[in-house]
Amino acid sequence: MPAKRKTTTRTKTQAKTRTGLKTLAIDIGGTGLKALVVDDAGKALTDRARIETPHPATPKAVLAALMKIIAPLGVFDRISCGFPGVVIDGVVNTAPNLGDAWRGFQLQATLQKSFGKPCMVLNDAGVQGHGVVEGKGVEMVLTLGTGMGCALFLDGKYVPNLELAHHPFKGKKTYEDYVGNAEREKVGNKKWNKHVKKVLEQIQPIFNPRHIYLGGGNAKHLKIDLPKNVTVTENIQGLLGGVRLWS
Ligand code: BGC
Repeated sequence: MPAKRKTTTRTKTQAKTRTGLKTLAIDIGGTGLKALVVDDAGKALTDRARIETPHPATPKAVLAALMKIIAPLGVFDRISCGFPGVVIDGVVNTAPNLGDAWRGFQLQATLQKSFGKPCMVLNDAGVQGHGVVEGKGVEMVLTLGTGMGCALFLDGKYVPNLELAHHPFKGKKTYEDYVGNAEREKVGNKKWNKHVKKVLEQIQPIFNPRHIYLGGGNAKHLKIDLPKNVTVTENIQGLLGGVRLWS
């Protein structure tokens, strides 16, 4: 008589993740630090852990805070990290909302060494974009949070570090001065919505994108009627996009 096959109570999700790699997705923001582990299909395997960004937000303080929230998340095979500034080859070039101490900081190498896992660090809007773009024509991502993130994709290929945020927008005000969180808090949501509308009207005829995806923590405050080619994406995409960086 053939031996009875052992039955297991493994769920479908567990079965799927057994074959794939687990990615620790980190989002370093000016207001909050977030992390979660996702499977190779971009499905969250843990809750999203969050902690306020320490002030002053030096590399040492931010990394210590990150360690705290990452420790309980369990095992993972690789790391993706979105950073709020220009990142070139894993090295931080600018960090307008965190401080000058980041200039030249080897963030990718540091995370890689700290966890002993391969790591990729990109501008935060770039990571978010990887999670949402369709891969057709010119697609743009604008994130509305502490700062204004911006990412450009052509046929799914990321054009890194397009820093519209600090470009002059109106008078002495930059795009970020106009739609960043400090301005929203100052003028209120109603007026801030009008500002976002103006920014969209300015950007559309310059880049002529097929689609613009709006994300970031403040996207939830949007009340304006958006043009047909503009949609609001969920903020969690910023973390889930981290998986697609590897494909
Ligand atoms: C930075 C961008 C970043 C954005 C959102 C801006 O101040 O210059 O690189 O993507 O904030 O964090």
